[in-house]
Amino acid sequence: MTLVSGVLRAGFGLTACLALQATAVAAPLPKGDGYAELRTECTRCHTLHNIQQSDGFTAEGWQAFIEQMTDIETRPEHRNKIVAYLAEHFPPDP
Ligand code: HEC
Repeated sequence: MTLVSGVLRAGFGLTACLALQATAVAAPLPKGDGYAELRTECTRCHTLHNIQQSDGFTAEGWQAFIEQMTDIETRPEHRNKIVAYLAEHFPPDP
């Protein structure tokens, strides 16, 4: 997915998400290995709600997606921890 299609999807999804937002805000992301790095890297441009509301990805999918969205490939240690965290806690929706 390109970043542009991500932006479009985020926009189209907004109406549907509004009703769910109160619940999403109340539920924090699960703590675990990689969470600290994720907070640092992924809240620079937006909140973590994007992650909770995403459809989920495989490890390969998350890596490709976040490398396209950010410059995280310049910090492979952070990238590897974050990809492992995301693949464990936010796998693709069945
Ligand atoms: C350089 C800025 C930037 C950083 C850093 C960033 N993002 Fe994003 N992200 C965006 C933009 C821009 C969008 C689309 C608009 C929006 O939803 O705010 C987006 C959207 C998303 C979406 C929703 C995509 C969709 O199709 O629904 C997810 C999930 C996401 N980001 C995850 C992450 C994760 C995980 C990280 C940390 C590795 C991260 N972002 C770091 C800029 C960034």
